[in-house]
Amino acid sequence: MLLSGPADFDRVDAVRASADALLVGAGTIRADNPRLLVGSPERRAVRLAEGRPEHPLKVTVTATGDLDPGARFWHTGGDKLVYTTDRGAARAARLLGGAADVVPLGPDLDWRALLGHLHDERGVGRLMVEGGGSVHTQLLRQGLADELQLVVAPLIVGDPRAPRLFGPGRYQEGRLRLVETRRIEDVVLMRYEPTAPGTGPLPTAADRHWLRTACELAALCPPSETAFSVGAVVVAADGTELARGHSREGDDPVVHAEEAALAKIDAADPRLPGATVYSSLEPCARRASRPAPCAELILRAGVRRVVTAWREPDTFVPGADGTGVLVRAGAEVVVLPAYEALAKAPNRHLLG
Ligand SMILES: NC(=O)c1ccc[n+]([C@@H]2O[C@H](COP(=O)([O-])OP(=O)(O)OC[C@H]3O[C@@H](n4cnc5c(N)ncnc54)[C@H](OP(=O)(O)O)[C@@H]3O)[C@@H](O)[C@H]2O)c1
Repeated sequence: MLLSGPADFDRVDAVRASADALLVGAGTIRADNPRLLVGSPERRAVRLAEGRPEHPLKVTVTATGDLDPGARFWHTGGDKLVYTTDRGAARAARLLGGAADVVPLGPDLDWRALLGHLHDERGVGRLMVEGGGSVHTQLLRQGLADELQLVVAPLIVGDPRAPRLFGPGRYQEGRLRLVETRRIEDVVLMRYEPTAPGTGPLPTAADRHWLRTACELAALCPPSETAFSVGAVVVAADGTELARGHSREGDDPVVHAEEAALAKIDAADPRLPGATVYSSLEPCARRASRPAPCAELILRAGVRRVVTAWREPDTFVPGADGTGVLVRAGAEVVVLPAYEALAKAPNRHLLG
């Protein structure tokens, strides 16, 4: 059953053309026998002119390795990659006979390992996942999707066996952020981003979103030769932003970002213990300008999770270790070095 019309298929084609890799589960290859290509010659030409392959890398996942070597997936487009388990690898390699690279990821397929391998070994920065339900379910439940594009078609499907977009399970608390709605002929596209922070040491897509926001806030800081420019956001477990702040905001020439953000929240707010503080620079451990450093303020507020981009250098306080202060008090600190350059950008003049 075709749910979309020509204009929406063309939109999908454009999204495909923007991706480095396209992924579907083995169930979708079996059910739909997709080619998974960029259809537009103009878009393919642009990719080539940019020095990219004509078609994105095609990726599938399988535990059993039970893949039909006659499927169109293997005989169209450019490179193909199969992620599988140790158990499925031999079968997939035997069935496909060189039509795809087969990568076993251990006894079970770990999605973070898969995404890490795609990024590190195949240079994939943007992955488009086109189903099916079991794959969507895992990526959404594990907080690994940066964006969800949902298209609603004016069709009512009564068959209880019809495939579902998502299966049962526990998803992020709270609401996704609606970033766009677009009418496309008679269907409507809705784009959402996850908002709820992760809950442990492993970063989620929402963690990356909020940390980027904190890094961007640092650009608002009045310039200084004697202090870093830092941005911070405090986000409740359900993805509600509780407050944000940046260094030297308002009329306070010495206020720190985390301090400014926390000051805007009622200390009795019951959401604080489940909240995450995102800070472009790790919270300070010692400071001359105020009695309590930010690591201490965070602990006093009851917050137990901090995500940061950049460990504090020795520029102003030698051996500052806000992360150590937080961790010793039982808080979780997640450092995402991928955002370090962004966090440093407004501080370049201080770093020599
Ligand atoms: N409307 C749309 O736009 C759209 C798009 C795509 C798909 N669909 C529909 O979705 C349905 C297919 O969805 P589906 O949920 O049945 O299948 P699927 O998600 O495409 O693929 C499921 C298969 O992927 C492999 N897999 C998934 N997670 C894995 C993991 N963690 N480790 C190892 N292997 C894993 C397994 O393959 P093995 O069984 O080989 O081990 C599993 O059976 C079809 O009816 C299709 O038409 C619709």
